[in-house]
Amino acid sequence: MSLVLDLLIYAVAWTHVLLSPYTKVEESFNLHAIHDLLLFGGRPDALQKFDHKVFPGAIPRSFVGSIIVAWLSNYIARLANDLSLINSKFDLQIVTLCLLRRAVARRFGRLTSLLFTLITVSQVQVPFWMGRTLPNMLALPFVNIALCLLLDRGSRAGRTSITCASWAVALLTFAAVVIRMEIAGLLGLFAIQLLSDGTLSITRLVKVGIVSGLVSIGLTVSIDSYFWGQWPLWPEFSSIYFNVYEGKSAEWGVSPFWTYFSTFLPRLLMVTLVFIPFGFARNARIRSLVQPAIGFVFLMSFLGHKEWRFVVYVVPILNIAAAHGAQSFIRQRKGSLLGLLAFLVVVGALALNTTATVLFTRASMANYPGGHALARLNERYKKTPHVHVHIANLAAQSGASLFLHTHAPPYRSRLGILPPFAAAARPWIYNKTENLTPADIAYNSPFTHVIAENRDALPPGRWQVVDVIDGFRGLRVRTDVLRLVSEKGLEGLWRVLEVEKDNKLWIFERRGE
Ligand SMILES: *[C@@H]1O[C@H](CO)[C@@H](O)[C@H](O)[C@H]1NC(C)=O
Repeated sequence: MSLVLDLLIYAVAWTHVLLSPYTKVEESFNLHAIHDLLLFGGRPDALQKFDHKVFPGAIPRSFVGSIIVAWLSNYIARLANDLSLINSKFDLQIVTLCLLRRAVARRFGRLTSLLFTLITVSQVQVPFWMGRTLPNMLALPFVNIALCLLLDRGSRAGRTSITCASWAVALLTFAAVVIRMEIAGLLGLFAIQLLSDGTLSITRLVKVGIVSGLVSIGLTVSIDSYFWGQWPLWPEFSSIYFNVYEGKSAEWGVSPFWTYFSTFLPRLLMVTLVFIPFGFARNARIRSLVQPAIGFVFLMSFLGHKEWRFVVYVVPILNIAAAHGAQSFIRQRKGSLLGLLAFLVVVGALALNTTATVLFTRASMANYPGGHALARLNERYKKTPHVHVHIANLAAQSGASLFLHTHAPPYRSRLGILPPFAAAARPWIYNKTENLTPADIAYNSPFTHVIAENRDALPPGRWQVVDVIDGFRGLRVRTDVLRLVSEKGLEGLWRVLEVEKDNKLWIFERRGE
C-alpha cells in the first residue's frame, strides 16, 4: 500500500514532465546553469562560456541549487549515458514528498496519508512544477524535509525532539540564505512556534540559527562569488536588497493585499482546500503547523509584487491539514447515510481537482512553442551540414533552452552527448542576439534559418516559411454540448472545453540568392 502511494506520486509527477518537457524563462537561469555545469564543468577557464556571462539577468541568482542538481544529474546521466531534458532534482523533490507522506502516516494514520497523497497528486501546481528548475522548487525539498522533522516523532504524544527541531531550523535557514530569502519568514514563524510550545530554548535556537546561518552564508558567498566573478556576492541578499529595500519588485507589477488568499492559494490548493478548517479545528498538532503557514502567507501579502511560487512552500502543510480534515469528516459518520455523503463529498472534491488538472495540463502542453519550434528545426534539418539559426525572443522564452542546441557544442561523450552525424563537420550556430531589426536579420546577416514571431517578419522573395508552430491562445467552452455528444458519444464531453491555439512561431529558410 505504502509503496503504491509513493509510486503514485512518482508517476503523476513524471507524467507532467513528460507531457510538457520544455521550460519557460523563469526556470531558465537554473536550467542553463545546470547545462553549463554538466557540459563545461566548473573550471575557471570554462566560466566565460556560461550562459549567465553571455546573458546576465537583472539580478544574480545562487548556483548552489544548480550545482546539487547538476552533480546528481551527472551521475544519473552517466548511468543512463543519455541526457534528456529531465533532471534528477526532480527525483529529489519526489523523494521528499514521499518522506513527508510517511511522516504523515506515522503521525496521523494511514487514511490521512492516503488522502494527503490523493490531494497532492490531484492538484495542478506542485506536481506540474516539481520537475522544473524554478528556484522556489529547488528550495521546496528543504522545506519538506524540515516539515518531516517537525512532524515525525517517536511516540504520538511526545513533542518534536530537540535534535529534530534544530535540524529543521538549520534546513530552513539554509534554504532561506542560499536559495530563496522569503523562506526566512516561514522560519521566523516556526521558530516562534517552537519557542512558545517549549520545544526549543532561546539559547538553543540562537545557537542553531547562528551556526547554520554562517555556514550557509559561507557556502553561498564562496560558490557564487566564484561563478559570477564578483567578490563578495551573496545572491539572495542582493536580491532582497534590490527587490524589497529598493522596491524594485513593484516594477514587476503590484497585486492587491489579499491576492494570495483570494486567488493564489485557491489555485494552488483547489477544491480540497474546503477540508482545511476541519483539520484545523480538530487537531492541535495541525494547528501548530497551519498557523505559521498562514502567518507566512499573511506576511508575504505586505509585498506588493505577488506570485504563487513565493508561497508554494505552504502547500504540503495545508494539504496535510486538508487530508486530516477529510479523514475526520469520513471517520466521524462512518456507517450512516451521512457518512456515505461525507465520503462522496471527499471523492467529489478529488474528482473536481483531477478534472481541472487534466484541463490545465492540456492547455500548458500548448504553452511551449519555442521548445517545439527548436525540436522541429533540429529534426527537419538533421542531415544539413550547417545551419545558423536566429531565435526570436518569444521562442527563447518559451522553451528553446540550451538543452535543445543538439547540433552545436559543447558535447561530452562521457555523458553520451555526442555530435549528431551532420553537425560533426561544422557545428550549427543557435543565435539568440536580441534587438536586431528585420532588415538586419533579412539582409545583413549570416543566418540560414530564422525562428520568427510573425508571418511577415522576413521578405518573401528571399525567405520562405517552412513550418508554423502553434501555441496556446485560450480556452473556449463549447455551447453545442448536445451536438458534440450525439456526434462523438462520451468523447464529445471531453471536447466541451476546447484548447484554442494560434500560430505563434514561424520557421523561415533562406532561399538561394
Ligand atoms: C549572431 O548574430 C549576430 C547578428 O547578425 C552576429 O553579430 C553574431 O556574430 C552572431 N553570433 C555568432 C556566434 O555567429
